[in-house]
Amino acid sequence: MIVVDDFGAGSRVFSNDIRPVNKIARVVLQSEKVALSIMSILIFWRSKGLGGRILEMGTSLGVTTAYLAASGWDVETWEGCRNTAEYARCNWQGLGYDGKIKSKIGTFNTLLNEDKGGWDVVFLDGHHDGPSTIKYVEILKTKLNPGGAILIDDIDWSESMKIAWERLLEDPHWNITMKWRGKGWLFNRVGDVEQHLKLRKSYIPLSKFI
Ligand SMILES: C[S@@+](CC[C@H](N)C(=O)[O-])C[C@H]1O[C@@H](n2cnc3c(N)ncnc32)[C@H](O)[C@@H]1O
Repeated sequence: MIVVDDFGAGSRVFSNDIRPVNKIARVVLQSEKVALSIMSILIFWRSKGLGGRILEMGTSLGVTTAYLAASGWDVETWEGCRNTAEYARCNWQGLGYDGKIKSKIGTFNTLLNEDKGGWDVVFLDGHHDGPSTIKYVEILKTKLNPGGAILIDDIDWSESMKIAWERLLEDPHWNITMKWRGKGWLFNRVGDVEQHLKLRKSYIPLSKFI
């Protein structure tokens, strides 16, 4: 059991703050297929000489973080709940990733204010609230390296997230967007043709589109 400080948009599953780890693992984390797929995309980009620094906003138990680290990219991950972040650290020790993942504890607002940026990819996987998501993306625009991308989880999770995604699609800054397994990719790529894609049921083959 972990006593959790919830800084997000609330939970539809948990009714209190004392939460069993196995249930967190079942309902909160990315699925193995999705984590593997993101890892494969990062490996693919690296093979093309692109990217190298990824920020995960929302560590939880640190399982997806370990997949990101397995890609060989530099990984930093942010978590508001101290107990959860400590649990993630133990997991990385067990997996041999301790010392390879930079972990920060704090709210997204605070950490974004302190952040110096320089990210190639940001995976926004926490605080699934529409207005907060728009605010984070607006700040992240200034923190991405040229050609960088943001991946937002749960863009269909609530009416407010659906509205936020529609608003983000209207922003001409994001000239390439992709909807994929309930997540949204936002790219600003100079010189590329504007494209707005919806991919269905694709995991590993996603890398072929990039
Ligand atoms: C969906 S989970 C992350 C899952 C993780 N990326 C994975 O797939 O293994 C979201 C996490 O973000 C954290 N979180 C949510 N809102 C936050 C905020 N505003 N500031 C800091 N952490 C937040 C929660 O405590 C939670 O552990």
